[in-house]
Amino acid sequence: MSYETIQVALGEAVATITINRPKKLNALNRETIQELHEALSELEQDADVKVIIITGSGEKAFVAGADISEFADFSVKKGKKLAAKGQELLFDFIENLSKPVIAAVNGFALGGGLELAMACHFRVASDNAKMGLPEVSLGVIPGYGGTQRLPQLVGKGRAMEMIMTAGMISAEQAKNYGLVNHVATQEELLPLCHKIAEKICNNSPVAISHAIKAVNAGFMNTVNGYEQEIEAFGTCFGTDDFAEGTTAFLEKRKADFPGS
Ligand code: COA
Repeated sequence: MSYETIQVALGEAVATITINRPKKLNALNRETIQELHEALSELEQDADVKVIIITGSGEKAFVAGADISEFADFSVKKGKKLAAKGQELLFDFIENLSKPVIAAVNGFALGGGLELAMACHFRVASDNAKMGLPEVSLGVIPGYGGTQRLPQLVGKGRAMEMIMTAGMISAEQAKNYGLVNHVATQEELLPLCHKIAEKICNNSPVAISHAIKAVNAGFMNTVNGYEQEIEAFGTCFGTDDFAEGTTAFLEKRKADFPGS
């Protein structure tokens, strides 16, 4: 298949997708998101492909964000739809792909660009890369999973700081944070990704697909912890243990819990 905004190169077992809008620093517009979805779907079906690498064209940017010119005049309803559709077509889609997807972050990965890198199974960066979620500087928040995946990868405090300051971190700092696994020179970036991909190719694709599912399962929010806490907290008020515990406290004696 041929695409307008991306290029797909097929190696022996490794496919490389290059986002190719260098004049716009590879910003993700509607067409790019759709094309990435189609290419990834096709590569997932292709039995010869074992690993997928995603990178950006040019030397400056991986992806400098969602294409701001496309959503600057959106209503609340359209904004919600943009995030929901993007997450479904691309970000959640990549995270749950049955084949490993590596982000080769070759420059700016900002906003939707960092969210794209974070949706990939892991990340390798070039030493000139800069990463950040600048959305609050635009009066919006990350909408392609950034508020969820960044805390998963770097911890809540670091994610809060990155999101609130809208600042960029260097490749080295991203490595210290655990946001990227390795840093290489720009020339060495793709060769390093291929080297890692080759190691992956030695292993069982079926087992790898199960491992992806199992790892992802640990991060699924099917239960809301805070709601769970409120429910459980209330339930305690109906127990004999609670009656005994509070009564004992008020009577200034040691509790003798009935266990019911
Ligand atoms: N959406 C749309 N266009 C974008 C873009 C984006 N996210 N990021 C860059 N571009 C475009 C610029 O408008 C410019 O287009 P033009 O030449 O037609 O004017 C072109 O890409 C080059 O960008 P420019 O800003 O001139 O490059 P720079 O080297 O001065 O700055 C950045 C690089 C990455 C710091 C800057 O482009 C930037 O801040 N981009 C937006 C990042 C962002 O906020 N992303 C989150 C979006 S939710």
